[in-house]
Amino acid sequence: MTIRVLSIASEAVPLIKTGGLADVAGALPGAVAQHDVAMTTFLPGYRAVMANLGKARAVHTWPSLLGQPARLIKGLIGANPLLVLDAPGLFQRDGGPYGDATGRDWADNGLRFAAFARAAADLASGAVRGLTFDIAHAHDWQAGLTGAFLRFAPAGKAPPSIMTIHNMAFQGHFPRTLFPELGLPEEAWAINGVEYHGGIGFLKAGLEAAWAITTVSPTYATEIRDPEFGMGLDGLIRTRQGQVHGIVNGIDTHDWNPASDPNLASPFTARTLGRRAANRAALEAEFGLEPGAGPLFVVISRLTWQKGMDVLLDVIDHLAASGARLAMLGSGDKALEAGFVGAASRHPGRVGVRIGYDEGLSHRLQGGGDAILVPSRFEPCGLTQLYGLAYGCVPVVARTGGLADTVIDANLAAVAAGAATGIQFGAVTPEALAEAIDRTVALHSQTTVWQAIQRAGMKSDFSWGRSGKAYADLYKSLLEAR
Ligand code: ADP
Ligand code: GLC
Repeated sequence: MTIRVLSIASEAVPLIKTGGLADVAGALPGAVAQHDVAMTTFLPGYRAVMANLGKARAVHTWPSLLGQPARLIKGLIGANPLLVLDAPGLFQRDGGPYGDATGRDWADNGLRFAAFARAAADLASGAVRGLTFDIAHAHDWQAGLTGAFLRFAPAGKAPPSIMTIHNMAFQGHFPRTLFPELGLPEEAWAINGVEYHGGIGFLKAGLEAAWAITTVSPTYATEIRDPEFGMGLDGLIRTRQGQVHGIVNGIDTHDWNPASDPNLASPFTARTLGRRAANRAALEAEFGLEPGAGPLFVVISRLTWQKGMDVLLDVIDHLAASGARLAMLGSGDKALEAGFVGAASRHPGRVGVRIGYDEGLSHRLQGGGDAILVPSRFEPCGLTQLYGLAYGCVPVVARTGGLADTVIDANLAAVAAGAATGIQFGAVTPEALAEAIDRTVALHSQTTVWQAIQRAGMKSDFSWGRSGKAYADLYKSLLEAR
C-alpha cells in the first residue's frame, strides 16, 4: 500500500531556498518514492513561489484562516505533487521568506507560520475534499505548530506526525499574545503543549506533539541531548530519546553531478580529475587570484557564528601565508562580511570574496576548488561538505554533527587503507583550524595521496538511497503502531 505523506516545509528547491532545508525538502519526495511513499510538498505562497508555479489551480478556499483569506493551490514541484498556501496578506511581499530585504524578521512571522501550520493540519486531517494523507511530516519551527493543531484541534481524523529538526538554533519563539489568535483550546497552553518560557515555542510544540522526532545526522541526534547543542530543548529530547532518530541527509545527484553539471566549464569524473584544472583556472580568473602550487580553498556559507566564520577570519593571514589561496562566497553577519572583504584587500591575489548568494557560482566553486572549509561550531548535517565529496573538492571540517558522520579523516591508517575522504579537526579554535589548513597544504602537495582522497570522496555514498529508505521505514512503523 502506498503511504501518502504531507511534507510541510517553509522552503524547497527549485522554488524557494535560503539554506539546506530547501535542498532536503526538494529532494525528499524523490528519495522516498522508490519505497512506495507518495509525498506531497506543502509550501507558503511567497511571491517567488507564486510567480514560478507554472500550471496550477485553486482547489480550496479558507474565508478566514486565522483571520486571513487564503486559497490552496495545487501544482507540481519537479515531477511531484505540490500544494501552496496562497494567503497574500501573509506571504505576497518583497523580501525573503522570513524577513525584509535588510534582513530584519517580519514582525508577523508568528501569525504567518501559525496560519501555514493550521492549513497543514487541516490538510493532514482530511478537511479538504479530495486530499488524504497518512502522515504529516513537519520540518523546522516554521511547520512546528502543525503537530499542536493536530493534537489539540484537528479538523478531522489526525494522522501520525513527525517533526524533523534541521537546526535546533532556530526555534520560533513568540509572545503569549499570539495564543488567542491560534484558536487552540486552553489545555494547549501547557508545558507539554505550546507554552515555552511564558511564550509560545513553535519547534517545542512540534516536538511535544510529534509521534516521532528526526534530525539530520546520527551524531547531531546524540549531541542535542546536551545543553550545549540542545539550546534549551535538550531536556525534552532526553525525555523523548526513544522516539528520536538521526537520518543523515543525502544530496540530489542529478543537480549535483560533476560529469553533467552545466555550470562547469569542464565537467569531469573520478577518472578524469585532470579536467578540474580548467575549472580552477576559471575560478582564479573570476576571483582575481594568482595561480599557485598550493591548494585553492573555497567557502560557500552563511557567514555566521554557527559556521565558525569568525574563527576562519582569525586565521586568514595564516592561510594566505601558507601558500594556499581562498575563494569565498557567502553572506550573513555584516561584521563578518566586512571582515572578509577587508581580508581580501589585505591579500590581493590570495584571498577573493563574493558577498551574496549565487547558486551557479556555488557549483563552480565545488568544481574548481581543491578543498572546501567547513569549520562549523555545530552542524546538524551540512550539505556543502557532501557536494564537496561529490565534486572532488576535499572537505576540511570540524568534527561535529553531520560533518563527523560524513567525512573520513585522512589520518595515517585511513590514508593507507584508501578510506580517507577529507580532513577533520576537533575544537573550533584558530589553532586547530590553522593546523588543519597546514595538514591540508601538506597532503595536497603529495599528488598521489591527494587524488586518492578525492577519488574516495567521489565514490562514497552521499546519495539519498539509504536515508530515503530510513524515512519510509519510519512512516511504516508509525502506521503499524497506530
Ligand atoms: P545551512 O542550511 O545551515 O546554511 P547546509 O550546508 O545544510 O547549511 O546548506 C547550505 C546550502 O546553501 C547549500 O546548498 C549551499 O550550497 C547553499 N549556500 C550557502 N550559501 C550560499 C551562497 N552564498 N550562495 C549560493 N549557495 C549558498
Ligand atoms: C540546517 C542545518 C544544516 C542542514 C540543513 C538541512 O540548515 O544547519 O546542517 O544540512 O538544515 O537539513
